Amino acid sequence: MTAAALTARRAGSLSGRVRAPGDKSISHRALILGALATGVTEVEGLLEGEDVKRTAAAMASFGAGVERLGPSETGGGRWRVEGRGGFAEPVDVVDCGNAGTGVRLIMGAAAGFDLAVTFTGDNSLRGRPMNRVLKPLGEMGATWIARSNGRLPLTLKGGNLKPLAYRLPEPSAQVKSAVLLAGLSAAGGAEVIEPEPTRDHTERMLRAFGAQVDVTEEGSGRRIVLAGGQKLTGTRVRVPGDPSSAAFPLVAALITPGSEVTVEGVLLNALRIGLLDTLGEMGADLAVTNVRDEGGETVADVTARYSQLEGVEVPPERAPAMIDEYPILAVAAAFAKGRTVMRGIGELRVKESDRIALMVEGLKSCGVEVEDGPDFMIVTGAAAVRGGARVTTHGDHRIAMSHLVLGLAAEQPVTVDEPGMIATSFPGFVALMRGLGGDIAEEQPAAA
Ligand code: S3P
Repeated sequence: MTAAALTARRAGSLSGRVRAPGDKSISHRALILGALATGVTEVEGLLEGEDVKRTAAAMASFGAGVERLGPSETGGGRWRVEGRGGFAEPVDVVDCGNAGTGVRLIMGAAAGFDLAVTFTGDNSLRGRPMNRVLKPLGEMGATWIARSNGRLPLTLKGGNLKPLAYRLPEPSAQVKSAVLLAGLSAAGGAEVIEPEPTRDHTERMLRAFGAQVDVTEEGSGRRIVLAGGQKLTGTRVRVPGDPSSAAFPLVAALITPGSEVTVEGVLLNALRIGLLDTLGEMGADLAVTNVRDEGGETVADVTARYSQLEGVEVPPERAPAMIDEYPILAVAAAFAKGRTVMRGIGELRVKESDRIALMVEGLKSCGVEVEDGPDFMIVTGAAAVRGGARVTTHGDHRIAMSHLVLGLAAEQPVTVDEPGMIATSFPGFVALMRGLGGDIAEEQPAAA
């Protein structure tokens, strides 16, 4: 996806009330479970980002009826999925675009059926590790042919799976979900042991679709047991606002003097709010109001006011609850007094890009002191951040949004290349930030 490079520049304070786009994790799952279920699922507030649209197209290719009914009052779309109680074989390659969540969850779901399915994705996704999903699926009896190191494109053949009890080697909700979705069709089900709890949307949503999922605490982790051969029944899903997207306007307000921004309807699932906890520890003026239950998840309005932040040491065990938020935390840390130490974040190196490497490169080019190692990043903040750089995002949406937010508060403008990729998770980002008073514009060509 290409689009003109964007430049963010400082232009006074930010203020207003906005709604975060629908949660990406929940949107993918609503479409996939809707397609696996029997009957109709109506999804309210589906995130209409590129990643989720790929999953919608994939579900149609597996035989589900997938239709956009119209816009949702709370943003995003109203979608109808008519599930056929299982997957049929797609006649073409399933292209998941940029979406790691999409491809890994769909591989798990597809492995439950006697089908041969070829998966691919964009440049970034074709470089990401799929072995973490193929390993447990293989132990259940699925087979595949893939590029070296289990990279996409790959063809997966499933069906007639054996039950599996799998201990996650890395804290990954995507791997957990893939095993559970495969186990749904396996006669003996599946069990996942996670040493550190990861986002639990799959477990919650399986229950909403009528499945029995038993979760027990085990030390600091969890054991999740799904009996096999369970049938899902279509239901209604209301998608809450994505805390990972809300993070961008909230941090922008925290680092831009005089700002006050409220993001409404933000998902506050305990396994997703590590960033809010960390910002609170940094001294952020955050207020959580209007806390309510929406479709089995806690949501609330979150207000951020400009704050003089202080560096902190982020507890490594918090990483799964804020894994996608480290890039924007690093931006907040650049404006904080002292050092912010982020350890136990090696997983960031295998996201849409190597997010540690790109944040280090981007922040350094903006004059920020930052150091890194295999699984850590340390940012030393300052009252003023220079900016004045053109940042390479390698097509990573969160790297692009993080540096644009930095540019809104830095002394000199910051330009990001490939901003088109922002649409994978936050299609209205630029308009939303402009609505709050942010100055984000297409890069002006250099004078000849
Ligand atoms: C997701 C899990 C996380 C996260 C991703 C969404 C999910 O990935 O980074 O954006 O919806 O399950 P991992 O499971 O690989 O940590």
